[in-house]
Amino acid sequence: MTYKILAKRNLAHKMTMFEVDAPEIAAKAKPGQFLIVIARTGSERIPLTICDFDAQKGTVTFAFHEVGKSTKELATFAEGDVLLNVTGPLGNPSEIGCFGRVLCVGGGIMVAPLLLQVKAMKAAGNEVTTVLGCRSGEFLFMKKEAMALSDEVLVASDDGTAGETGMDFLRDLLACKMFDRCVVMGPVLMMRSVCEITRPFNIPTVVTLTPIMIDGMGMCGVCRVTVNGKMLFGCVDGPEFDGHQTNFDELVKRQRTMLPEERLSSIMWESGGGCKCERK
Ligand SMILES: Cc1cc2nc3c(=O)[nH]c(=O)nc-3n(C[C@H](O)[C@H](O)[C@H](O)COP(=O)(O)OP(=O)(O)OC[C@H]3O[C@@H](n4cnc5c(N)ncnc54)[C@H](O)[C@@H]3O)c2cc1C
Ligand code: FES
Repeated sequence: MTYKILAKRNLAHKMTMFEVDAPEIAAKAKPGQFLIVIARTGSERIPLTICDFDAQKGTVTFAFHEVGKSTKELATFAEGDVLLNVTGPLGNPSEIGCFGRVLCVGGGIMVAPLLLQVKAMKAAGNEVTTVLGCRSGEFLFMKKEAMALSDEVLVASDDGTAGETGMDFLRDLLACKMFDRCVVMGPVLMMRSVCEITRPFNIPTVVTLTPIMIDGMGMCGVCRVTVNGKMLFGCVDGPEFDGHQTNFDELVKRQRTMLPEERLSSIMWESGGGCKCERK
């Protein structure tokens, strides 16, 4: 099995999308599922959400934000290079059905996989409003694709340089338009804010949780999350969960467990030495 990178696309600063040759994964992939990517011998396992797949071409697409050593290493790969391993599809597929009017909210790099859900929700007969969230206008990407797939596209940026400022405008939107379901994919704090906005409107809200993972197959227990008071595994019980029942505080705390090691590893990678794997 070779996992050749067939296309590399720069989405925004430090945000990259790869289309990879992986026919066996493409044949089974569904929206909402994820992959575990290992760049080369000695590299870490990186969970990344499927952004698209083409069973006929035998390809899967994923996008990543360079936040630490492993994603920075992945970004050094070019079109034509081969990844050591891509495992998937992992996790449960999204629940796609005809709900009526669906609000899909994406933030940061997770806008890319969100669009696969937008496509599936639209194909299932829903009216879809898509919100593209970004730090600032320069980090806004795939707006054209979102417009082609959705009935309505709204933009929000943290600093107001593109569209609305922050996600608070959603309160006004929900006050004048009824939605039957909300799907949120993005940074944990953003997902938590959106859940607090949809809660008083009783809109079922599905979030994609991204706890630290190792195997991604239910064996290590690292990806524990608490939803509705129950301890669940992000990889095999999720990655999608009821946002109104999710313990986000615990998730944030658990995500920070390895912060000193992650920082050190990133600094060592930047300085060109000390990591177990060879640089290209
Ligand atoms: C099911 C799942 C799907 C994901 N899908 C995507 C995706 O489509 N695109 C993408 O860019 N990232 C995605 N992530 C997050 C991605 O796996 C991490 O950003 C990556 O593993 C970080 O590795 P690193 O060595 O580069 O950075 P690290 O050094 O490991 O981390 C650097 C910083 O990122 C934070 N971080 C680490 N792991 C995560 C995480 N799991 N979620 C959020 N923040 C984290 C750390 O707290 C730290 O601040 C997903 C995670 C999961 C669990
Ligand atoms: S990542 Fe190991 S159990 Fe989920």
